Amino acid sequence: MAMTSLFTPLQLRGVTLKNRIVVSPMSQYRAKEGVADDWHLVHLGRFALGGAGLVFAEATAVEARGRRTHGDLGLWSDAQVEPLARVVRFLEAEGAVAGIQLGHAGRKASERRPWHGETPVDATDAEERGEAPWPAIAPSPLAYADGWPEPQAMTDDDVAQVIDAFEAAAGRAAAAGFRVLEIYAAHGFLIHQFLSPLANLRTDRWGGDGAGRRRFAVEVARAVRRAWPERLPLSFRLSATDWVEGGLEVDDTVAVARALAAEGVDLIDVSSGGIGGRERPQRMALAQGFQVPFAETVRREAAIATIAVGLLWDVEACDAIVRDGRADLVALAREVLDDSNWPLHAARHLGADTEHAHWPVEAGWWLMKRQRLLDRLGLR
Ligand SMILES: Cc1cc2nc3c(=O)[nH]c(=O)nc-3n(C[C@H](O)[C@H](O)[C@H](O)COP(=O)(O)O)c2cc1C
Repeated sequence: MAMTSLFTPLQLRGVTLKNRIVVSPMSQYRAKEGVADDWHLVHLGRFALGGAGLVFAEATAVEARGRRTHGDLGLWSDAQVEPLARVVRFLEAEGAVAGIQLGHAGRKASERRPWHGETPVDATDAEERGEAPWPAIAPSPLAYADGWPEPQAMTDDDVAQVIDAFEAAAGRAAAAGFRVLEIYAAHGFLIHQFLSPLANLRTDRWGGDGAGRRRFAVEVARAVRRAWPERLPLSFRLSATDWVEGGLEVDDTVAVARALAAEGVDLIDVSSGGIGGRERPQRMALAQGFQVPFAETVRREAAIATIAVGLLWDVEACDAIVRDGRADLVALAREVLDDSNWPLHAARHLGADTEHAHWPVEAGWWLMKRQRLLDRLGLR
């Protein structure tokens, strides 16, 4: 039997990924009024040329007040569809499957871009850049961290509105041609705020026990599945643990994954952390692949496909994660910013592409000829 490796295709519903390498969603904070432009085409396009099987567009807001920063992408209006469709057409023409992540920032809305401080937007941003602050909503009126404004606790109407917004945005993502959809339920954004006992103090049906705190995620999944075609896979990104005493632990995440699977979710993208503050929690132990054990546990205990992500760069380590069945896919973010051709180089390293056949022919033809020349001359 052939061994599974990074370069074994994977079928999810009616979509086949040519390999197990995912470009993780990476916010660019560069959109204007949520609309994609040439930057997004080139930024994402290079990952398709680089050989990734699945390329995710960044966290994309389902409503304007759910943006994290003024530069977030959005799919809250039909006018935002075509600029993303242009990106999709390029990715798919170059052999990658195009994915997108939909999210809502909740109490982390109205934030400055990382290079402007990752602190709340205030009147000075309005003066300097014409970017005014806006009020945030959240399950409970708890500020994200010291120095952050208190968000408005969501009413039942707010909850219904946001669920509808997820559904409508999923329909727009399908209209743009995306073939994998991921719902952003990690890193302290709105859905994670509902899931975590550290951010959700509600005593109504949207809070209380684990089932109550899961309800919002489950209702979002159900609504999104209505708008997202049945032949296309649906992923959820979860923070497997809050890394904080009294917060979510991996067992809670297994329960969330099971509940989501029952709603037609196919894939869990397993990250961690982010529920409150900028300080790294003391319990968080960083190491290469430090979140892989969570992906493995969710995969085994919830019987669902997973993506492993976080501090991954070594080709053989990534290959082993897939080969050993610890996750179905591996996602890279910073490593592919450094080298967008990482998948092409990985294929050569693992012997899956000896002739530069994975490369776009416009480059691969020349690289193959050069390799033969160098081999003949004994130079490399
Ligand atoms: C520039 C940048 C932007 C990011 N934006 C998002 C995002 O929009 N959605 C998300 O789920 N994670 C986001 N992340 C987190 C990454 O997807 C990934 O989980 C994290 O960087 C760990 O992977 P790495 O060690 O390969 O970088 C971002 C990371 C970077 C570096």
